[in-house]
Order: sequence, then structure tokens, then C-alpha cells
Amino acid sequence: MSNVTLTRLQTQKPAGDKIVMLTAYEATLARAACNAGVEMLLVGDSLGMVVQGNDSTLPVTVDEMAYHTACVKRGNLGAFLLSDLPFMAAASVDSGLAASAKLMRAGAQMVKIEGGLSLIPLLQRLAQNGVPVCVHMGLTPQWVNLFGGYKVQGRGAEQAQRLIDDAKALEQAGAAMLLLECVPAALAAQITKAVQIPVIGIGAGAATDGQVLVIHDLLGLTLRSRPPKFVKNFMAGRDSIEAAIAAYVQAVKSGEFPGQEHEFSA
Ligand code: KIV
Ligand code: NA
Repeated sequence: MSNVTLTRLQTQKPAGDKIVMLTAYEATLARAACNAGVEMLLVGDSLGMVVQGNDSTLPVTVDEMAYHTACVKRGNLGAFLLSDLPFMAAASVDSGLAASAKLMRAGAQMVKIEGGLSLIPLLQRLAQNGVPVCVHMGLTPQWVNLFGGYKVQGRGAEQAQRLIDDAKALEQAGAAMLLLECVPAALAAQITKAVQIPVIGIGAGAATDGQVLVIHDLLGLTLRSRPPKFVKNFMAGRDSIEAAIAAYVQAVKSGEFPGQEHEFSA
């Protein structure tokens, strides 16, 4: 695979060519994901849960994100590498800039930040300094204490309209990509149409411009009693991790995943 660039990802949206993203935390599985055709690797702060075993993403530090980003970079074969700013890293513009610099120096090509309109001053500064930003909206796991659990967001007309307005304003302010987590499928479809930048979904239905999964979920591995509704175990019936990831890539590209059983209603 030739190197995936932001320019290429931007052309995939109007072409209807679904963007396939998968989380990665270390080199060997990052390499397997690349061999299987994954176009974007996300060093997610979900590593706080699936790698570190915490019950939320809140304990993860910028240094830990930079360490895992460097590990993934060494295994990467041309996928576009996105890393998460962890909890409180974007609490001020200065801390957000410093954290982003660390992640970019470690090998990230774009940073992802959870939040909404209050991120605009930071994202403008990042864009002015050559750092593409993906804004993570909807269910933002760093807000778990405010939300009272991992709950579907954007239900009800008022909340839905606010997400649509925020998405447009963030695009205007220079966001390069949006990620929607656990929002009703119909709302995700509306937001995807309302902006020109690519919109990636998880638990957001099939109409977004791309999909992301946590690799452990894709492989059927979990610390929880049962996986969330939007997860599909692609390892079932397959005999290698690379074959499971390749099946995920194919299912996203063909539009077969996510199915209706994986989405949330309004
Ligand atoms: O940290 C993560 O893995 C994420 C995805 C679930 C989108 O942010
Ligand atoms: Na994350």
C-alpha cells in the first residue's frame, strides 16, 4: 500500500470509498493491520482500558500516548497515524499545543481531541502550525463522569441539532476530520452530509464516511462481561488475526459492516 495521506482520505468521501480505521497500540499488530489494508491507525486512549486494564480512559497520560504512538509508528507500513490527546491535555490551549507536539514528534500525523466548540481556539492554533485535527464528538469517553456512564448521545431534537451545528462550526474553524461515537444512525447520516470533511463512526451506523473499531473488540477479546452493541467479532470462524482484520476491511468497504443490528435509533 502506498502511503495514505490526508489528501487521499479527503478524496475518499466524495468518491464513496469508505475509510477504514482501526486502533493500534504496538508495532506487530499495527503491521498486521497495514498488511490487511487498514488505512488509518488510531493510537486511542482506549489503551487505558484494553492495555492498562483501567475502568476508564482517564488515567492515561500524554507520555503514555507518546510511547504507544512511537511503538505503532515502528510497525506502521503507510497507514495514516492518528493519536488521541488524553484526559485534560486540551484543558488549555497551551497544554493542548504541548501535548500535540509530543504526539506529532512521536510519529502521529494527526491528533484527535474529544469535545466541541470550546476546542476552536486550540484547533485553530494547531492548524496554523501544520497539525491536522480530528474532533471526537457524541459519546466522548473522557466525559464518562459527567454523562453518568457510556450512554448514546444526540438523542432528542435539541441535542441532535446542537451536534449538527457544532460539526459545521468545527469544520469552519479548521477541523480536518470528525469522529462520531454512539449517536443515532440517522443523526450521523445528517452530520456526514452537512460537512465536507470526512466523518468516521463507531456505533454511529453505516452512513458515515468511514468506520473505526478497537482491535481487541474486532478480535473478540474483552475484559467486560459482554461487548457493546456496535461491536462485531471478526475472528469468529477465521484462523488468523490478519484474516480477521482483512474481513473487517472488506466488510467496511462493501458497506456490509456496520449492519442495522449494530446501530442506535434516535
Ligand atoms: O480511544 C479510542 O479507541 C477511540 C475510538 C473508540 C474512537 O477514541
Ligand atoms: Na479515544
